[in-house]
Amino acid sequence: MPAALRNWCTISLSALRANLRTLRSAVPRGTRILAVVKDNAYGHGLVPIARALSRAGCEEFGVAFASEGAELRQAGLREPILLLGSSLPSEFPIALSRRLTVTVSSLQEARELARAADKARTVALVQAKLDTGMNRLGAKPAEFLQLAGFIQRHPRLELVGTFTHLACADSDPKFTRRQLDQSFLLPMVGQRHYANSAATLSRHPYPMTHIRPGLGLYGIDPRNGGRAPLRPVLSWKSRLLVVRNIRRGETISYGATFRAPRDLRVATVGTGYADGLPFSLGNRGHALIRGRLCPIVGRVTMDMALLDVTALPAARRGDEVVWIGRSGTKIRTATDLAREAGTIPWEIFTRIAPRIPRLYS
Ligand SMILES: Cc1ncc(COP(=O)(O)O)c(C=O)c1O
Repeated sequence: MPAALRNWCTISLSALRANLRTLRSAVPRGTRILAVVKDNAYGHGLVPIARALSRAGCEEFGVAFASEGAELRQAGLREPILLLGSSLPSEFPIALSRRLTVTVSSLQEARELARAADKARTVALVQAKLDTGMNRLGAKPAEFLQLAGFIQRHPRLELVGTFTHLACADSDPKFTRRQLDQSFLLPMVGQRHYANSAATLSRHPYPMTHIRPGLGLYGIDPRNGGRAPLRPVLSWKSRLLVVRNIRRGETISYGATFRAPRDLRVATVGTGYADGLPFSLGNRGHALIRGRLCPIVGRVTMDMALLDVTALPAARRGDEVVWIGRSGTKIRTATDLAREAGTIPWEIFTRIAPRIPRLYS
């Protein structure tokens, strides 16, 4: 790690490959993997992650919108790329020229896409989405077959697959079963998929050609109490800038929300909410220093936060601070940080600021 860094993430590509193998082993042989690398591969770095997955045999990729897909093509990736969100007509020319597969939820979207394909004298690759209860994207069951039929018959559209998305695969098996019971509507032609990481690890017996894992690839089992043998891919570290004594009764940071109940040693660390450290961790979160869990005291500020290091007399300026990762024998995960911040690990990962370097090993 270059000495000049005060905040950095290390990304283990061998952990990523191990997670790919673990997810593959959870589903029937021959099931292909559409790796969800949207939103900068959940903050892990779009192109390096997709390249490593491609080399490890991952068959397809899913991104949120067309410019992410274009970035992957620019980097030389040739696998099918599905735009998981709803694309606007202004994005269709990029999708068409880069051979990105467009998700379509309605006849209106299908007609708009067909017009764009006609204009570009090409055939658009399409996956039709079925809404089984997420109520975000997708055609309702009553309209889905009409939509799929329209796409299949249209000379400017090629239906490469159909899919649905689960709302509670990590938390509510009954809700999930109700959604999956409707998946019989997905035709048995072309691709057919529904499983995010939680559904993949839960091994549902509904037929599918692909799985669509995101969080699991990055080493987190999203299920309540889930214990799949996944390896965290990302570590997030920083350094102590200042260590000093605070007298009993003094307050710390903006708003004076923390008052020292006794004399303390408090360290200022070079990570703030502009780096993606949630403001909500003020007076609630923890970091590891020298293998010991240290509480955040006072509010998190833009570029710095404060830690109570009274229990660590050896703590000094320049010490490594671990927000996510290993320190001594202890490990902190994105799930630990998320729980303290009142959020979810997906948000912790995707909020780690672009200004923080990602170092790959
Ligand atoms: C349509 C779709 N499929 C799959 C995923 C991957 O989900 P997870 O990260 O829970 O595996 C996402 C993520 O939000 C998604 O939007």
